[in-house]
Amino acid sequence: MTDRVLIIDFGSQVTQLIARRVRESGVYCEIHPFNRVDDSSLKAYDPKAVILSGGPASVIDTGTPRAPDGLFTLGVPVLGICYGEQTMCAQLGGRVEAADHREFGRAFVDVADSCALFDGVWAKGAREQVWMSHGDRVTALPQGFRVVATSDGAPFAAIADESRRFYGVQFHPEVVHTPHGAQLLKNFTHKIAGCSGDWTMAAFRAQEIAKIRAQVKDGRVICGLSGGVDSSVVAMLLHEAIGDQLTCVFVDTGMMRAGEADEVVSLFRDRFNIRLVHRDASDLFLKKLEGVTDPERKRKIIGATFIDVFEEEAKQAGGADFLAQGTLYPDVIESVSFIGGPSVTIKSHHNVGGLPERMKMKLVEPLRELFKDEVRALGRELGLPHDMVGRHPFPGPGLAIRIPGQELTRDKLEILRKADSIYLEEIRNAGLYDAIWQAFAVLLPVRTVGVMGDSRSYDYACALRAVTSTDGMTADFYPFDMAFLGRVANRIINEVKGINRVTFDVTSKPPGTIEWE
Ligand code: XMP
Repeated sequence: MTDRVLIIDFGSQVTQLIARRVRESGVYCEIHPFNRVDDSSLKAYDPKAVILSGGPASVIDTGTPRAPDGLFTLGVPVLGICYGEQTMCAQLGGRVEAADHREFGRAFVDVADSCALFDGVWAKGAREQVWMSHGDRVTALPQGFRVVATSDGAPFAAIADESRRFYGVQFHPEVVHTPHGAQLLKNFTHKIAGCSGDWTMAAFRAQEIAKIRAQVKDGRVICGLSGGVDSSVVAMLLHEAIGDQLTCVFVDTGMMRAGEADEVVSLFRDRFNIRLVHRDASDLFLKKLEGVTDPERKRKIIGATFIDVFEEEAKQAGGADFLAQGTLYPDVIESVSFIGGPSVTIKSHHNVGGLPERMKMKLVEPLRELFKDEVRALGRELGLPHDMVGRHPFPGPGLAIRIPGQELTRDKLEILRKADSIYLEEIRNAGLYDAIWQAFAVLLPVRTVGVMGDSRSYDYACALRAVTSTDGMTADFYPFDMAFLGRVANRIINEVKGINRVTFDVTSKPPGTIEWE
C-alpha cells in the first residue's frame, strides 16, 4: 500500500500548501480538520507520519484546538508547524507564552545544530531565510527535545526529539518564501518517516481504475462532458476502467467558444471512441434566456435547463446507475472555521449543483483526492492532448456572462465568439497562453461612434480581459505590451463586423472579479 501522511488542520490559511509540497515529493497525504481526528480515526488512517498545521488560535487560551493525545504514543514521526509546534510542546509538558516580539513575514533563523530535518540544505552556523507568522512562542521545551534553530522572535524556531522522531518549526516551510522549505518537508517525509515517494500519476491511474471497477462492477455510468479539463479527465479514466458501460453526454448550450463543440465531439467520439451523446440545445437555452439581463438569473436558468436536458438525455440513453463527476480535492476539504456564519454570496457559481440529488444516482468521483494541477498531470498521463490539458478555465454559463447587462441573441454571441477567438489566437501566437490563467473578450452594452473608411460606424465596444492567478480566488491583470494590444484591437475592429472599439481591463481581483458578471 502507498505510504500515507496525515495533515491535521488547525485552520491555517496555508494548510493546503503543506499537502501540495508533500504530494510534489511523491507522497500521498490528506488534510483532516483537527475536530474530526481522534485516537481511533488516527489509528484507522494508519499514517506513516503526521504533520500538525498552523492556525489562528492561541495555545494559551483555554478551549483552543489540540492534537489527539494518542498521536504522541502512536510511534510515528510528527512535525508541528507554527501552532502545530506550540500545541505539541504544550501537550508534551513544555511552555508557550505570548511573545513581546511578534514575527510576521520574512525572517531569518540561525541554525544551531545539524538535524535530519536540515539534511543537505542547512548546515550548522548558517543563517537561513524563512517565513514566519506568529504571536505566541515556545518558551520551555518538553523533555527529550533540543533546539536546532533560533530566530530573534523565537528562541525555539526549530526543535527536535530524535528518539521519538518529533520535530517542530515555528516558521512555515510550506510557503515559497521559505526557500528551502520543500526540501525540509521532504527530509521529514522521506528521511525521517521513510516514505518511499512512489505516489505518481501512473500509480494513481492504476489505483483509481481498480477502484472504479470495484465500485461500478457491471453497472452503467453517465458523465456530463463539458470540454473542460476535469470532466475530460473523468471521462478518459472511466472509459479506460469500464469501456462502453460509460456514456458521456455533451450538452451544447450555445454559450461555448468558437469551434469548441466540434472539438469535443471529434476528440472523444472519433479519436478516443467513447460513447458520446451530443445534444445541441442552443435554441432551448436561448429561448429560456429571452429578455433576461440579470447575471444571477442567467446562471440559475442555465443551471436548471442544463439539468433538464441532461436528465432527458440520460433517460434516452437507457438510464444509468452512477453519475460521474469531476469533484476536486479543494471542494472536498472541510475547512476549519473559527468565525463561522455564512459568507456573502458574490456569484452563485453553481451550474449543475443539484444534479445528483435530483437524479438519485450514486456518485463516481475519481478526482476527489486531486488538486487541479494533479488533474492536469493525470490528463497528460492518460494521453489527452496538451491543448486540452492546459486549457484556461471556462465558466459553466459560458459566454452568457460575457455579454453583461444585456439580453443574449445569436448575433451578439457570434460577434463575441469571433472577437474572443482572434484574441486567443494572438495570445497563442505570441506564446503567452500558458503564462495566463484566463483570457477572454467581453461584449459591452454600449455602442460607440467610429469612422471606418469614409463612413460613420455605430457599433459595440468590447473589453479584453487577461489575468494571472493560482486558484481564481485572487488575480492580477496580465501586463501585455502595448504593441500586442494594438495588434489585437486592430484585428478585431477590422475582422469582426459589429465591434468598432476595443478596451483593455486593468482591474485586479479583489476588488474586481475575473468575469464581468
Ligand atoms: P470570478 O468572476 O468569481 O471567477 O472572479 C472566478 C473563476 O470562476 C469562474 N466562474 C464560474 N465558473 N460557473 C462556473 O463554473 C459560474 O457561474 C462562474 N462564474 C465565474 C471564472 O471563469 C473564474 O475562473
